[in-house]
Amino acid sequence: MTGNELRRKFLAFFKSKGHLILDSHSLIPENDPTLLLIGAGMAPFKPFFTGKMQPPHRRVSTCQKCVRTGDIENVGRTARHQTFFEMLGNFSFGDYFKKEAITWAWEFLTQVIELPADKLWVTIHTEDDEAFAIWVNEVGFPAERIVRLEDNFWEIGTGPCGPCSEIYIDLGEERGCGSDTCGVGCDCDRYLEIWNLVFTQFNRDEAGNYTPLAHKNIDTGAGLERIASVLQNKPSNFETDLLFPIIEYTMKLGQLTYGQSANTDVSLKVIADHARSMTIMVADGILPSNEGRGYVLRRILRRAVRHARLLGIHQPFLAGAVDTAIEIFHEAYPELQEQAAYIKRIIELEEKRFDETLQQGTELLNKEIVELRNAGKKVLAGETAFKLYDTFGFPWELTNEILSEAGITLDKEAFDASMHQQRDRARKARQESSEQMLIPDLSRLVDTKLSADATVKQSSSVLLLKDGKVVTEARDGDDVAIILAVTPFYAEGGGQVGDSGVMIAQTGRAIITNAKKLPDGTIYHMGHIVEGQIETGQLMEVTVDEERHFACARNHTATHILQSVLREVLGTHVKQSGSFVGPDRLRFDFSHFSAVTVEELERIETLVNEAVLADHVVDKMETTLEEAKKLGAIALFGEKYGDRVRVITVEGVSREFCGGSHIDHTSQIGFFRIIAETGIGSGLRRIEAVTGKAALELAVQERKSLQEAAALLKARPEEVNSKLASLLEHVKGLEHELVAAQKKLAGSVVDDLLKNIQQIGTAQVVVEEVVAKDMDELRSMADLVRDHISFGAVVLGAVNGEKVNFVAMTTGTAAKKLLHAGNIVKEAAKVAGGGGGGRPDMAQAGGKNPEKIAAALGKAQEMIVSQLAKA
Ligand code: ALA
Repeated sequence: MTGNELRRKFLAFFKSKGHLILDSHSLIPENDPTLLLIGAGMAPFKPFFTGKMQPPHRRVSTCQKCVRTGDIENVGRTARHQTFFEMLGNFSFGDYFKKEAITWAWEFLTQVIELPADKLWVTIHTEDDEAFAIWVNEVGFPAERIVRLEDNFWEIGTGPCGPCSEIYIDLGEERGCGSDTCGVGCDCDRYLEIWNLVFTQFNRDEAGNYTPLAHKNIDTGAGLERIASVLQNKPSNFETDLLFPIIEYTMKLGQLTYGQSANTDVSLKVIADHARSMTIMVADGILPSNEGRGYVLRRILRRAVRHARLLGIHQPFLAGAVDTAIEIFHEAYPELQEQAAYIKRIIELEEKRFDETLQQGTELLNKEIVELRNAGKKVLAGETAFKLYDTFGFPWELTNEILSEAGITLDKEAFDASMHQQRDRARKARQESSEQMLIPDLSRLVDTKLSADATVKQSSSVLLLKDGKVVTEARDGDDVAIILAVTPFYAEGGGQVGDSGVMIAQTGRAIITNAKKLPDGTIYHMGHIVEGQIETGQLMEVTVDEERHFACARNHTATHILQSVLREVLGTHVKQSGSFVGPDRLRFDFSHFSAVTVEELERIETLVNEAVLADHVVDKMETTLEEAKKLGAIALFGEKYGDRVRVITVEGVSREFCGGSHIDHTSQIGFFRIIAETGIGSGLRRIEAVTGKAALELAVQERKSLQEAAALLKARPEEVNSKLASLLEHVKGLEHELVAAQKKLAGSVVDDLLKNIQQIGTAQVVVEEVVAKDMDELRSMADLVRDHISFGAVVLGAVNGEKVNFVAMTTGTAAKKLLHAGNIVKEAAKVAGGGGGGRPDMAQAGGKNPEKIAAALGKAQEMIVSQLAKA
């Protein structure tokens, strides 16, 4: 039975069971950022399983194109690993469940394609007694050939998933590994999984939670090539009619024989698999690039080329392999025929490009390997691999593969580190080069009449520049300047930023970040090629980021209205001295001699918004300079204008010379908000403002802040002001109370201190440790104590975290001759590891050893006693 017959029979069988047969979905997932490529029949149907979307029918069956690259290294080394394969599947969206799924699978396998029932094995999830009962009671399947496995649970990315039951076929002992434990699930080729029945009843979210789905579903997947290998009695998928013609093609090309050398067979199989993958990937709209799907394609293509080299095939060969693949796929995917020329062109370009890389890289790497071997080493330095990658574009995976064939490993950590640094450098360089892109004298190079036309959707590339040099083609990863025959892009000028957007050629895609004008008026586009390649003379789809462009137009018209309103509110001395119009905001600089007051700003904002609401027509007119002047259009001082000029009139509001982008009616501005008014030099002011969506976002943001403040205050938003005022009043009251309370507290501490006054002769002395948060508090305490003493001394110490503070004061005329506060405190502080001093009547000091405070105060006491003794 051919692969095509098998596919047909499967779909016909499920049609007879009430299924709607749908075409395979493209390999590119729609609205599913969790998947790079479609890798299962169910993947395009996730929203039908979850109930998010209505399916066209509750029973569907397909043959789905799939790519899986997780095991790419195993391709060609085992009987069953492929990157591209076709998955046959039947699906129930809340319709039938386990019983039908199991019995129909059985019916198809044993009656339609007549596989030997006694060679089939079944696995179920450990806890799935329901499936077990169906297999045994409904199908009559022998219980001893049912294996319960913990990991029989199927999922892909986020979304629908569930326990599953797999069907295996025992291909015979001679295909097995011979190990004692060999059985269903063994990695060897004896037991081949041919069908997986998933009982989809959960939804997995991004956080990894599983919630039961509202209705139960069925998702099944049977590998077309695997079943074909069984039916065609072939040792592996590669010998089936779904792949072998490509092997034959390659054999012929390289004059090789199949089945004689293991390595040759691996390379032939890799090429066969990869040729099918790349054919379908390109047909589905993927272009080679260094990111995402484009990178998967590039990697697959490069592996195929390298294996061809291993087989001694050095000429371009992929186009022929693609032709063979298209023939194989002809019945299932007839549209490939129409795309053949395109697919081959993309693949040939990439093959040619890689060929150059490969030659240089392999040579260098082989040299390194020889050197390592001679030195008896087994690890290639990360920096060397990085140099291969960075300077020669040699893919690191390939470095890895070639090394592993030679029994050498790569220092991946060092490689990654170099890679990281390089990314930073590249980012910086890109920023710089986009600033400095050197444009040669174009009058020599372009003779077509280049023009701008905002309605253009397609245009041909007239000139490509890379690093300031004219090139005929540029590839993904390149920064380029592109000149088109006619462009819809607005070029930077008149204060307005240039447009951004995308250009798509048949062979590649470029992201355009800015458009600028040369002195002669020619517009060039600064871009970065992200996929494939772009060539001079190609027709391209050119798309401007309309939303961004429109946001600029809003801001530009708003700037004109603002200028007119400023003249109305502040006076006719207001003249524009500069402006910036971007998508997110506008900036207008003007002459004025004092700050604009809050009231004036409010009035300006209101008047602009009134003009917005009045929905004035915005007229764009081309006329002669003379006519424009006659109409009274405002020109920029010092600006030179040609004979023909463009005049923008906001009816009844403003008339200005202007080449920029504008809206048609002022109401399209939506909403105008001033965000700042500042001085920028003598007699110059700057107003920054937002319009449209940015103004709405600002309002939303402000409301959010207000709501948050209200929530903190436990008030309604409109009560925030009064609540805050009373809160501030309350705080003021609390502060007063606090000061009073502190005073009282200090007073009571002082009272205690006074109780401990020592009488030394006629002098009264207080030496104590107290609690005081800083020197100020300590001093005011000492002050209060001193007020109660007519002759004597006060010394107070307080611990303050890691430090200790001391204050000493003396009082009374007699004390002047005897007691010296400065000396007392200096000696005391020394004991506590510090220093200080001061006047005879008042001094302070600090120490670093708080634990010495008692000893320090003891020293102070001693000093006082000895000083008094001199009397
Ligand atoms: N979605 C299931 C699988 O891919 C059927 O195995």
